[in-house]
Amino acid sequence: MSSLKDKIVVITGGNSGIGYTTAKAFLAKGAKVLITGRQPGAVQKAVHALGHPAEGFKADQSDMNDIRRLYEYLQGRFGKIDSLFVNAGVAKLAPFETVTEAQYDELMNINFKGAYFTIQQLLPLISDGGSITLLSALNAYSGTPNATVLSASKAALNSLGRTLSRELAERKIRVNIVNPGIISTPLLEKAGLPDEARTHLSNITPLGRLGQPEDIASLVTFLASDDASFITGAEYNVDGGLMVHPLIA
Ligand SMILES: NC(=O)c1ccc[n+]([C@@H]2O[C@H](COP(=O)([O-])OP(=O)(O)OC[C@H]3O[C@@H](n4cnc5c(N)ncnc54)[C@H](OP(=O)(O)O)[C@@H]3O)[C@@H](O)[C@H]2O)c1
Repeated sequence: MSSLKDKIVVITGGNSGIGYTTAKAFLAKGAKVLITGRQPGAVQKAVHALGHPAEGFKADQSDMNDIRRLYEYLQGRFGKIDSLFVNAGVAKLAPFETVTEAQYDELMNINFKGAYFTIQQLLPLISDGGSITLLSALNAYSGTPNATVLSASKAALNSLGRTLSRELAERKIRVNIVNPGIISTPLLEKAGLPDEARTHLSNITPLGRLGQPEDIASLVTFLASDDASFITGAEYNVDGGLMVHPLIA
């Protein structure tokens, strides 16, 4: 029997892309899943498509009031969380010279500050022996042009994950980090990535394709399971080899 059966899993930003597909994967393993997102209609639609026992809660993870409301709701509804998947994030690209304070704040507030305080506020609900998985990006290590803020927000997240893996080891809470390469989700369109860029990225990926949300979901469910019970403070690139792509073919 799956070690995830009846586990309570919370996924931030679960109405689209990787979060949605990972919710599906957890449900297939018998977990109870609650997803969040900023748009109530989109959350409701996703919950309906995921089916029982998926649940949703409208929350902007960059808003402290919403994070506190989420805590109150989860406390009353389940009283605990077995696995938290910190997935909510946005990707916006702009040349360094043009980045405004508002653009900087939006990316840092959602990708890092929101993740930071979501974990801090929900931590009292996370069971001893539970797990936290942070969805970062290969950008945390790469020098992708026009991604100064995006990359910094993800690099900060990886740092947080490493530190938390030490601080939370006392409670046997495992904290791991996943760095996707380029994954085919609505985010690519939202970030304004042209079709030619997708083809180029697929061509320079050693495994010759873009990633699919399922490629991330299978690792995230593994990291939350008992099969990963000795894994903490670890980082995984899921990128078809993009990080090590050879300069000389
Ligand atoms: N796709 C890639 O190539 C790729 C690569 C590396 C890393 N990632 C990371 O993977 C994660 C998921 O991205 P995705 O590709 O699945 O993109 P996506 O399809 O755009 O999904 C992003 C999800 O996050 C939610 N979200 C965004 N801001 C939020 C906020 N402030 N509060 C609550 N929910 C929020 C969105 O819902 P609402 O907009 O309705 O709130 C949506 O459900 C992100 O952290 C992203 O940085 C993606």
